Amino acid sequence: MRKMNFSYLHHLMKSSDPIGIFDSGIGGMTVARAVKDLMPDEQIIYFGDTAHLPYGDKSAAAIQAYSVKITDVLIQRGCKVILIACNSASAAAFELVKEYAGKKAKVFNVIDPVVAYIRENYQKTSIGLIGTKQTVNSMVYQNKIEESSNSVKLKALATPLLVPMIEEGFINNHISEEIIHQYLVNDQLKDIEALILGCTHYPLIKKEIAGYYAGRVEVIDSSVTVAKALKAYLEYNNLVRSNKQSNGDHFLVSDFTESFEATTKLFFKELVHLEKYTLWE
Ligand code: DGL
Repeated sequence: MRKMNFSYLHHLMKSSDPIGIFDSGIGGMTVARAVKDLMPDEQIIYFGDTAHLPYGDKSAAAIQAYSVKITDVLIQRGCKVILIACNSASAAAFELVKEYAGKKAKVFNVIDPVVAYIRENYQKTSIGLIGTKQTVNSMVYQNKIEESSNSVKLKALATPLLVPMIEEGFINNHISEEIIHQYLVNDQLKDIEALILGCTHYPLIKKEIAGYYAGRVEVIDSSVTVAKALKAYLEYNNLVRSNKQSNGDHFLVSDFTESFEATTKLFFKELVHLEKYTLWE
């Protein structure tokens, strides 16, 4: 009798499989939080590349190498989806990660769902973007928005002080207010109808940014937008995990310090145990 080859079955995604989320560090936990809030029954395996943080100032080639290596770890752990939570990695490494994952996992980035949201909701107007130097200089948001809706003009501004400011806990005080004001008042962001928060850390200062605009500008939080897109994908493909399949979330980091663990509270709204995983021996 001819032997059947079932090797392809290893690549079939199951609803019970975890969702893999990765970021340069623990900032991507804002995205993990949004996913968990929307789909509490899903199991998350989170990878924070704390050994190579920050990605925002790194070359595209370096970010690509880290991203593929992390994707490999998440695939080995059986993830049905790889969600690139980091905007800088979404800009630099999405195509490569998608190619690497092949049919083993569906790959999401944090940029495409936002581009789709803009196409559906805005026409003949200007939209602002703030993010790291890597994200802004990559022109990925600009190119994707132009391709999908040529009547929308993107006005992008790199705001590199915001990540260290947030990580140092300068939120909701006069210093953060002043720095945010100095950036948003920039001519580059003049006359916009919406502002994309193009960085994992910015949901933490969303209120302050929204306060600056006092309702005149929609502040688009990419963590929430991507969680909604992921939910729609899982529902459409019958990949939603049922609440009976209990398994806890896992949080891996490529370098460990107690301060990383303490900071999880800021981004994930709860303290989580971080497990060290060395990417390269
Ligand atoms: N996670 C990065 C991003 O969303 C911000 C932090 C970093 O530069 O690594 O662009």
